Amino acid sequence: MDPPISHARPTRFSDRAALRAAVEAWRRQGESVVLVPTMGALHAGHLALVAHAKAIGRRAVVSIFVNPTQFGPSEDFARYPRDVAADLDRLAETGADAAWTPEIDTMYPPDFSTRIEVAGLTEGLCGAVRPGHFAGVATVVTKLLNQVRPDIALFGEKDFQQLQVIRRAVRDLDLGVEIRGVPTIREADGLALSSRNRYLDAAERAVAPRLHAVLARIAAALRAGAAAGPLLAEGVAELTAAGFGPVQYLEVRDAETLAPLERVEGPARVLAAAYLGRTRLIDNVAV
Ligand code: PAF
Repeated sequence: MDPPISHARPTRFSDRAALRAAVEAWRRQGESVVLVPTMGALHAGHLALVAHAKAIGRRAVVSIFVNPTQFGPSEDFARYPRDVAADLDRLAETGADAAWTPEIDTMYPPDFSTRIEVAGLTEGLCGAVRPGHFAGVATVVTKLLNQVRPDIALFGEKDFQQLQVIRRAVRDLDLGVEIRGVPTIREADGLALSSRNRYLDAAERAVAPRLHAVLARIAAALRAGAAAGPLLAEGVAELTAAGFGPVQYLEVRDAETLAPLERVEGPARVLAAAYLGRTRLIDNVAV
């Protein structure tokens, strides 16, 4: 087997003018730029996004910013894992060219006054249980896109509603960047990779893959023509019996409009969010 290719750490930028100068220099040379927005705590799912970025573009920029405005008052903003040095080391494995690590004042100066609200798509699913979350996401992603000015930005399909909300905001506001979703990376037992998996204790980690198992089973039954209602009720009961709770939602939605579906005829998604102990897990699968 060939030894792994080793790269240098990406160049770290915390100054917007310096970042823009680097990106503009690449553009002048005709090099395409792909952005991977993250909140750090990078895992193999993020690294797969960066590998994808390097496969489709010449330059990969990874932003690392734990965005306070997308966390609710009782959510995990304070305990969200932060270790930029470790993140930069991990990025060295990927060949990422730049890491954009803005300071809080660059993102939100004290008199910051603007918010991007995407109506409709944000009303159910995570939007229903995390008020203000998607306005925080849409606003920070719009800023990141304007700061970096990439040709393409990549988002994991694990946050499927987020991906659709960002696509819509980018289209509605003519942001002129292509948004692409990248399939979820999973552990061998099916658990979707997430920075929050590190909160799980051993017993919870053993139960966590049941979430994906339930989603996959429901998707298969829907594909075979079953109606959603009874499958979803059984799914909630199974997750609850396994130790999840509360199950915030388990739903079947149109993959583009996110409209609820009882039977599946075109592209659809089964999506869930459930607590396991103190940890909130989300996942979804294509039907
Ligand atoms: O998916 C995430 O990590 C975040 O929501 C994002 C897109 C980086 C915005 O803060």
